[in-house]
Order: sequence, then structure tokens, then C-alpha cells
Amino acid sequence: MKKNVIWWIGVKNDKYAHKYGGWDWVDISRKTWEYWCTKNDVLFVPFEKPIEEDLSRFRINWQKAIFVFDEMERRGIDYDQICQIDCTHMIKWDAPNFFELTDHKLTAVRDTDNLNWIYKSIVGYKDFFDGFEFDKQKYVSSSPMIFNEQHKEVFKSFKKLYYDNVDTFVELQDKIVGKGTEQTPLNYWLQVNNVEMNLTLPFVYKLTHIHRKDMFGHNWQLNEDKTPLFIKHAYNWVFTGIPKDQRTHIMKQVWNLVKHNYDENFVLNKIENKGKNKSTTSRKFKEDILRIFGEGYKDKTILELGCHQGNTTRVYSECFKKVIAVERDVVNYEKTKENCSDVNNVEFINSDVYDMNFKIPDVDVVHIDAGHTFEEVVFDIDRLSKQLNNPTFIFDDYGHEGRTVRDAINSKLSDGTIKLVTHIGEDKGFVAANNKTFIGREGVIVNV
Ligand SMILES: C[S@@+](CC[C@H](N)C(=O)[O-])C[C@H]1O[C@@H](n2cnc3c(N)ncnc32)[C@H](O)[C@@H]1O
Repeated sequence: MKKNVIWWIGVKNDKYAHKYGGWDWVDISRKTWEYWCTKNDVLFVPFEKPIEEDLSRFRINWQKAIFVFDEMERRGIDYDQICQIDCTHMIKWDAPNFFELTDHKLTAVRDTDNLNWIYKSIVGYKDFFDGFEFDKQKYVSSSPMIFNEQHKEVFKSFKKLYYDNVDTFVELQDKIVGKGTEQTPLNYWLQVNNVEMNLTLPFVYKLTHIHRKDMFGHNWQLNEDKTPLFIKHAYNWVFTGIPKDQRTHIMKQVWNLVKHNYDENFVLNKIENKGKNKSTTSRKFKEDILRIFGEGYKDKTILELGCHQGNTTRVYSECFKKVIAVERDVVNYEKTKENCSDVNNVEFINSDVYDMNFKIPDVDVVHIDAGHTFEEVVFDIDRLSKQLNNPTFIFDDYGHEGRTVRDAINSKLSDGTIKLVTHIGEDKGFVAANNKTFIGREGVIVNV
């Protein structure tokens, strides 16, 4: 069956190892793409061994473009779409499957990072292409670039163009224009051959010059989340535009920040989130729980009133000494036991939390998530505030309009029963699995 392919370019040339501060960064890129490919049922096809050995006449960037279709044939790959990816790119673990955004056209991201460089490069190759009037608005980056069988001929003729003119290209590239390798000639070739392009892929699928966009930092005004902005807001992080010998150093730091997300055994990769299951919390909510309660709560107990199928329960079990998970519905109760079967610090209670026989256990933190009417939430806040000693409460569903959880929490904040500690989870605009859009942050943590 035809599959989408990541044509990943990761040739390590010992001669240049020093210039790049070693080649460890190439392996980091590879790990992210292999993970993403497995997750999205995409074939990972690495290009690691040059086909032409003379790398000054056949730079790797040229080889990736002129040999891509030959290699698919030689390796017997039954491809649908092919995405060309340089190893300076790291893909975010949960990046959407961008092959679904192409309309089966040649798809690429407009390159607008260094307009002076692009302008000079376009002008530099103009004579070679017989004065062709190049449309600068359509200048694209050659990685990521997504194409398919319809584009085989144009790539093969690009190969012929190169072989027919290797010496001229090498001279233009190394001595005269000095702006890039195959990217500008490929841009010309696509336009000369009238290839229809889809240029709608958002720039988050190629975030370059991260430092210049100030995206290595975090939102210091919102001091509650120190996740760097590029990790929060972009899907494909590209480590170019920085000194080459710093690349290993920087990509290693990034990898250390995010590597747990690329582990199938990491708790957040095994459970369901709000994007898929409307009854649980979002992945962001769970990430915030791990960040806030990950340290310092190992001697504490949390009570979860209404644990549904145990998706957030499983995250609490990572942070707390003990989790007491209460659920009325027997099917959900059984599912919670199954989802938490790999840990032994969860106590499961199948009960109605508003039943007279249900006794509130002595705990430090409560996730209040059983009844969702105004009265039920107010009742929970009041009884737990009275019965427990300085508890902390966690709420989700605070982002929903038309539900009374938000109103109940706000009324108890206003009358001083509880005090806001921080907001958590997804922000206004997030769409849950039931197609409801948040009107504010998903959750809150409060103290009494
Ligand atoms: C929104 S879901 C909870 C989601 C869960 N806390 C999570 O983060 O994945 C609410 C759950 O509360 C349960 N529930 C509702 N009323 C209840 C009650 N009176 N006693 C116990 N459980 C209740 C429902 O069956 C449902 O599974």
C-alpha cells in the first residue's frame, strides 16, 4: 500500500565534524522524525550515504533533490507523498500530520527570513535561467517540501539540468552568487515548468531563526509557564541561522527539555486527552499537573472526585504518594482500574460522592470533577473547605461557557472561600472532542 514518506537528509561528513561541533545533532533530529513517522504511519527513509562521492561538485543539498525519485525506485518504496526534510529540523512529538494539508500539490513554506539573501540569490541565477521573470512572492524553502509522483518528471529533468551544467552551477554557487546551493535553482525550475504550488502551510511547520524571533524565551509576564515559546507554538523547529558550531550544543539542550515526550512509555503518551475524549482533561492540563505537582508532593495524598476512566488519575499517580479515585459509573470505574494497572498507589472507590454513606477521606489536594451543576460544585467546595485542613483544589471545565462549573468557582472566589493560585491547561479557543470551544483557560488551582 502506498505510504507517505519522510525523505530525511542526514549525511555526516567527517571532514566537517569540527565546523558543526560534532554530529550529535543529526541523531537528535533523526530520533524526533522516527518517532513522528511511527506515530503517523509515515515511512522514514533516511538519505545518509551520498550517491556521488565528490561532495564539492555534488553537494548533499543537490543530491537530495536530484536523486530522490531514483532512490524511491531503487529502494522499492511504494510512495504516495514525499516530504524532503533536512536534519537541522526537529519535529514536535504531537505535530499534526501535515501530509493531510497539501491537497496533493507541491507544498512548501515561503522563505522570508533573510530577504536580502533571497533577493541576491534570485538575481544571481537570473542569467542562467535566460532572464526568466521569477515571481519572488513564491520563493520557497526546499525543506520541508512535499511532492508526489506527479512531480517525478520535473525532479528528473532538474537532475538532467544539473548533470548538463555541473561546472557552471558549482562556479555560480561557490564563486559568483555564493547564496545557497540547490534551493534557488530548484525554485526557478519549478516556476519555469509551471508547477502548481500550495503555499498555505503555516510557518509553524518551519520555524527558523528561533533566536531572532525571540522564541527561545517564555512568556515572562505570565510567570506560570516557562515552556519556551517555540516549543509551545511551533511544530517543526529548525536550527539554522545560529553559529554552526553551536548547533550540537543548542539542539542537545532542546532535546533534554523534550525527550520524555518521544518515549512511548512516557505516561502522557499512553493516556487519552480532551482533543480525543471530551470527558477528560487536555494534554496541556496534564503537562501542567506534572510541572506543578511533579516535585514536592511525594508525601501527599490527592482525592479525585469523578475520575471517569483514570486518564488524569494516572498522571496524579506520578506526582503523589497516594491517589484516591472515586467514580460512580461502574464501566468507567473498571476502565480506571485498567488504565492505572501499572502503578500501585491508586485506591479505587466505586461510589456516588453525594451519597450519605460516602465519607471524605483526609487528603491534601482534591480534583473536584464529579457533579457539574452550579449547586454541586458549590456544595463540593463548601464541604471540602470545612472538612479538610488547608486543602488545595484543582478544577477543569473552567473554560466552558454555558456550564456552571465556571460560575460556581467564580462565586466562591468572589466570596473569599477559595483563592486563585494559577490557571492551568489549554487556553481560550481550544476545541474539545465534542466541538465545544473554550472561552477561557481550561482549569484553575485554588487554595482555601
Ligand atoms: C468529567 S468526568 C471526570 C474526568 C476525569 N477527572 C479526568 O480528568 O479524566 C466526570 C466523571 O464524574 C463521574 N460522576 C458524575 N457524578 C458523580 C457522582 N455523583 N459520584 C461519583 N462520580 C460521579 C462521571 O461518571 C464521570 O465519569
